[in-house]
Amino acid sequence: MSHIELRDVCKSYRVGSNTVTALSNFSVEIEAGEFAVILGPSGSGKTTFLNILGGLEQASSGEVCVDGESISVLPEAKLTDYRRHKVGFVFQFFNLLPTLTTLENVMLTAEMGNSKGGDPKHYLERVGLGDRMDHYPGQLSGGQQQRVAVARALAKKPALVLADEPTGSLDIQTGIEVLDVMRTLNRETGQTFVLVTHNSVIAQMADRVVRVGNGTVHSIEKNAQPLEPRQLSW
Ligand SMILES: Nc1ncnc2c1ncn2[C@@H]1O[C@H](COP(=O)(O)OP(=O)(O)OP(=O)(O)O)[C@@H](O)[C@H]1O
Ligand SMILES: [Mg+2]
Repeated sequence: MSHIELRDVCKSYRVGSNTVTALSNFSVEIEAGEFAVILGPSGSGKTTFLNILGGLEQASSGEVCVDGESISVLPEAKLTDYRRHKVGFVFQFFNLLPTLTTLENVMLTAEMGNSKGGDPKHYLERVGLGDRMDHYPGQLSGGQQQRVAVARALAKKPALVLADEPTGSLDIQTGIEVLDVMRTLNRETGQTFVLVTHNSVIAQMADRVVRVGNGTVHSIEKNAQPLEPRQLSW
């Protein structure tokens, strides 16, 4: 449900005596409820963009507005609130806690979110893992672990879901299942999804495709008739 606007965002890192530019004048707008795909090669700044949008990193300059509020100027405490209540993250390597069960992994984040968070069991059922709640991550396949991560991201009912190469460590079929779960939830809940990937096939299921290269936006296209994830073929 979040509307996103980045204006002329720059991000550079100092590494020793060098400065590395990860984003330069990166500007993009994503409408509330869209499923957006940010497409670009390795090193083009996708993760940097997502981390800045998610409040995990600060832009060096420029403005990042979410629902009209500039997160670039938020004090640390407010930024923590933003990350906790507004944003759900899905990472390439799942990042589940190995000593907690599937259900506990989802409960933990749901509790850290707000009291309006959904029932963790409901989300595990939604991603097809109702019969795996007591399993530990090590007892699940990669695709199942990623579906737990999707349930975990959604259980706190974030307005914005950010996914960094969520299918990058999955095989094609499993990747499609994970994408299908995400797009179905997006359509049901109206939450805004921003998924970054280097895989152009995935862009075909997006409402909006943002092509990036070298830390900047090359093109933005709206896709009036995005494919269903199950129609994608690699
Ligand atoms: N913490 C950091 N310190 C220094 N340089 C960084 C840092 N994070 C990213 N970079 C540099 O910024 C550029 C963009 O990196 P980023 O991780 O955003 O790319 P990416 O598009 O996500 O790539 P990939 O598809 O390989 O994940 C790269 O050149 C990278 O080396
Ligand atoms: Mg990356």
